[in-house]
Amino acid sequence: MDNTTRLQYLEAMGIDVWLPRVVPVQEQASVPDAIAENILPEPEPEPIDTWEALQAEVVPCTKCDLCKTRTQTVFGSGNKNADWMIIGEGPGQNEDQQGLPFVGKAGLLLTEMLRAIGLDRDEVFIANVVKCRPPANRDPKPIEIETCKPYLLRQMALLKPKIIVVLGRVAAQALLNTDEPISKLRGKIHALNDEPVIVVYHPAYLLRSLLDKRKAWADLKLALQTYKNIKG
Ligand code: URA
Repeated sequence: MDNTTRLQYLEAMGIDVWLPRVVPVQEQASVPDAIAENILPEPEPEPIDTWEALQAEVVPCTKCDLCKTRTQTVFGSGNKNADWMIIGEGPGQNEDQQGLPFVGKAGLLLTEMLRAIGLDRDEVFIANVVKCRPPANRDPKPIEIETCKPYLLRQMALLKPKIIVVLGRVAAQALLNTDEPISKLRGKIHALNDEPVIVVYHPAYLLRSLLDKRKAWADLKLALQTYKNIKG
């Protein structure tokens, strides 16, 4: 029995027969049409980063072992619209207690160094490579630096500084991804993305080594001149 005759029999018996609908070729949606007709979901837009979102992540961070010995994280402080970003190594004891960067003896000298080139602390943003104090002020370990660095890079992306001053060997090597000694890194203009980076001796080191203060002064003047050249 052919199909048409079979259907006629079934209909005569009062049985509804459902046939698959054949969609004509021109009615079938191609993938671009499907997107245009909102059949497929559009890709999620990248979330926009904010200072508040970033700080809310940093404050309770437990991504590395430094969280076990810190009192609190030290996010960074200063002017979030600053042209100048100052980057240190990591919090010391005073910073760990107060939750603010560079508030001990080295911080006092940093304030003086900034004043020497005409900057108040509230005209710059100050942050560290690691946000938690390493026990007994030891150098942060490479794994601690790599774990924490994305926070610093997000701070840089939010601030968009015109110039970055990096304090000391550990911060300079971490930021510039190099093993070069500080004697080779200072006295030059480096670049990170499009921003100039000047390496200056760490104020804690300068407190111990007065002889290098003159070099630090030269580097600060280089930073100021570089900034003036950018501003035109
Ligand atoms: N040394 C640093 O590198 N950062 C601080 O915040 C304090 C001391």
